[in-house]
Amino acid sequence: MKHHFLSLVFIVFGSGAFAADGEKSAEQIAAAEALANAPAEGSISTEDGLAAWDKVFDVFSHPRCANCHVDDGVPMWSGSHYGETRPHGMYVGGDPDLTMGQIGQQCNTCHMDGNSPVLHGPPGNAIWQLAPAEFAWFGVSSRDVCEQVKDPSRNGDRTLFEIAEHIEHDALVHWGWTPGPGREPAPGSLSQTVRDVLIWGAAGAPCPTE
Ligand code: HEC
Ligand code: HEC
Repeated sequence: MKHHFLSLVFIVFGSGAFAADGEKSAEQIAAAEALANAPAEGSISTEDGLAAWDKVFDVFSHPRCANCHVDDGVPMWSGSHYGETRPHGMYVGGDPDLTMGQIGQQCNTCHMDGNSPVLHGPPGNAIWQLAPAEFAWFGVSSRDVCEQVKDPSRNGDRTLFEIAEHIEHDALVHWGWTPGPGREPAPGSLSQTVRDVLIWGAAGAPCPTE
């Protein structure tokens, strides 16, 4: 029975464009180079640091990133592809502690290894799950996200270099620039975002005051 159900899901949603394992894209290579050439601490002005933060926030607050970074356990559907901003359909989620979904309806029941090639089919990745509620950014202001992301007690105990590293190697972050049919990708690029986090950090991680 279970087997039949899974086959059905597969037929309905299609098998998706699977990323080749272990192969780095040109963007991932450029992102790794950006990490290796991080600017020295104190070498960047506050003004340039704030300008870099603005670009980082444009990415973090974009639907392709923010839709998973929520505090109530319910992923969001937002961005032009979704028509209107609303909670994920099909009664998905609801418990902030269950980032992989509810028992019996986990995220990977529908979200497969790759993006469905079908418009409005589920996007996918090897592990599809919500960010922990403490990393929530959906609808949060630039100043507040800025303060949160540089606070080790609220960012998974990471230095800013480690935040840049997370962006450089995390497959869910990479998906933000390869989101599947109909969805607009996050602005800028993976490597530029890694660079901007490093520039912001080297300026002492200044945050907007309002
Ligand atoms: C499918 C859901 C999903 C999407 C889409 C997603 N994330 Fe996340 N994000 C997560 C999960 C899960 C974690 C926790 C992983 C960990 O701590 O190792 C996380 C953690 C993070 C962290 C580290 C914690 C923090 O708050 O500083 C950063 C930075 C981050 N994501 C950036 C992004 C960016 C940038 C994008 C878009 C380009 C993005 N994420 C898209 C699920 C997602
Ligand atoms: C019953 C099937 C199903 C389940 C279970 C499910 N999803 Fe989805 N999800 C979908 C479909 C289908 C779409 C695409 C909708 C569209 O494109 O109109 C989607 C889209 C999304 C998006 C939108 C991505 C974006 O920014 O464009 C996110 C985020 C998401 N799901 C997260 C989750 C998370 C996290 C879970 C588990 C807690 C989950 N989903 C469980 C079917 C499901």
